[in-house]
Amino acid sequence: MDLSELRKEYATHGLDRHELLDCPLAQFKAWFQQAKEAGLNEPNAMVLSTVDDSGAPTSRTVLLKAADERGFSFFTNYHSRKGGHMEREPRIALVFPWFSLERQVHITGSVVKTSEEESLAYFARRPYGSQLGALASDQSQFIPDRQHLETRLAELKAQYPEGKVPKPANWGGYRVIPDHFEFWQGRLNRLHDRFLYNKKDGNWQISRLAP
Ligand SMILES: Cc1cc2nc3c(=O)[nH]c(=O)nc-3n(C[C@H](O)[C@H](O)[C@H](O)COP(=O)(O)O)c2cc1C
Repeated sequence: MDLSELRKEYATHGLDRHELLDCPLAQFKAWFQQAKEAGLNEPNAMVLSTVDDSGAPTSRTVLLKAADERGFSFFTNYHSRKGGHMEREPRIALVFPWFSLERQVHITGSVVKTSEEESLAYFARRPYGSQLGALASDQSQFIPDRQHLETRLAELKAQYPEGKVPKPANWGGYRVIPDHFEFWQGRLNRLHDRFLYNKKDGNWQISRLAP
C-alpha cells in the first residue's frame, strides 16, 4: 500500500501567542468547547500511552470524563494491561486527535487513582448495560470466544436488576496530573503552530516550538 500521495494542507485556523490563555486547563477547555461545537465525533476520546516494565510503550483510546484543577480523569479496569503499566510507572502521555479541526493536544503527566467515592459515583451514573459489561469483562485477559462474554453477561443480568449492579472492586478512575501541555494547530506548508506549556516553580511557562 503506497500512501505517499495521501496528504492534506492545513489552512483553516492559526494560533498566535496572544490568543493563548495563561492557564493550560482554561486553554484546553476553550478548545474542547470548540471541538464540541464543531460536532466532532467523541471529542473526549483521548489516546493514552503507558509503558511496561521494559519501557515498551502501548497506546489505546479512553474517554475523558472530567477535567478540572485536579487533573484529567478517566475510568477503566485496574487489572487491565494499562492498569498494570500505570501501577508500576505512573508517568503517561495523552493525545486528543482533533483532526477535523486540524488540531491536537498533547499532555504528559502522572496518574493517581481517583477516590473510591468518585469511582462509585461515576459507576452509578453509567447505563445498566455498561455497568454489567464492566462486571462481565476481565479486561485485557485472554478469553476463548465471544460466547464466553455473552454467557457471563446473561448470568449477571439475571443476578443483578437495574440499579443494583455492584461496582467491580478492580474498576475505577485514574486522574492524570499534567506537567506539560502542547497545543498544535495545523498550518500551510507544514509550518504548524505549536505552543508548549511547561510548569516551572509552580507557574506555567509558554514557549513556541518549531513544527
Ligand atoms: C472511542 C473509544 C473509547 C474508549 N474508552 C475507554 C474507556 O474510557 N475506558 C477503557 O477502559 N477502555 C476504553 N476503550 C477501550 C480501550 O481503547 C482498550 O481497548 C481497553 O481499555 C484495553 O486496553 P489495555 O489492554 O491496554 O488495558 C475505548 C476505546 C475506544 C475506541
